[in-house]
Amino acid sequence: MDRPRHLVSAADVDRCLLDDLFVLARAMEEVVRSRGSSDDLHGRVLATLFYEPSTRTRFSFEVAMMRLGGGVVGAENAREHSSGAKGETLEDTTRIVGSYADGIVVRHYEEGAAARMAAVAEVPIINAGDGSHEHPTQALLDLYTIERELGRVDGLRMALVGDLAHGRTVHSLCHMLTLYRDVRLYLVSPAATRMRSDVLEVLSSRGVAYQEVDELAAIAGEVDVLYQTRVQKERFASLDAYRRARGRYVIDRALMARLGPHAIVLHPLPRVDEISPEVDADPRAAYFRQARNGLFVRMALLTTLLAVE
Ligand code: NCD
Repeated sequence: MDRPRHLVSAADVDRCLLDDLFVLARAMEEVVRSRGSSDDLHGRVLATLFYEPSTRTRFSFEVAMMRLGGGVVGAENAREHSSGAKGETLEDTTRIVGSYADGIVVRHYEEGAAARMAAVAEVPIINAGDGSHEHPTQALLDLYTIERELGRVDGLRMALVGDLAHGRTVHSLCHMLTLYRDVRLYLVSPAATRMRSDVLEVLSSRGVAYQEVDELAAIAGEVDVLYQTRVQKERFASLDAYRRARGRYVIDRALMARLGPHAIVLHPLPRVDEISPEVDADPRAAYFRQARNGLFVRMALLTTLLAVE
């Protein structure tokens, strides 16, 4: 696969690109630790367009760009504060912003928004979440974290837990996991939030072994990675449907007692009540380290997509 110009979907990456990005991310950790920043992207400008709320993703992209010596312009509430509010099409906004900046990071409430932008953009488009569809850069930092914590991804047993229907991070993660060998998945959810069927088809067609289960406690002792997710309140048709789906799986001290000594707990964050704060001090709770890794992985990605040849 040639190096992609955009990162719109997990399908844009191959194993070779993942491995290269993770080597670079490790080097970025060292840059930040020893010098704080570099000038790899000096003179380049990144635009961030966020039509949905964000803390980690937007800040880590913006700080990543700054730590690479580049500049950032952004709309953190683009739904109200960009010309979209006046009726401008996403395509026109893309053409304009792309004529000022060298790359655009976008989070949008509509599935397919980043792909629409990539179809007209002159500069790289990075999808930071499109509706309940995909969030490929989160999957990059999830995989980087697994490799960093456990030394490998190949051969691991993982449980993806919670809102597998609406959680875009687990969709991208499943796609990227097909690039690894012998990964076995437990998809843990109640019937109301089962994994999307298109994602299940991707897993089946690429030979990834998965099992859909609705009891977390029963399989917790089997896994190397427990990936918890938030029930995506904003994506349910009604508050009632959300209330029926939430609160089913809570990671607390009792659940941690079932987990293997070398297993790790991940979560894309933000958490609501699905991981009890009493778990935070457990060395297997890797979610804050995971969020921090977002900075290094996004520095690696920006260097790869935005550097002048
Ligand atoms: C996730 C998202 O926006 O999809 N957050 C993130 O980027 N780390 C997960 C979520 O909102 O639950």
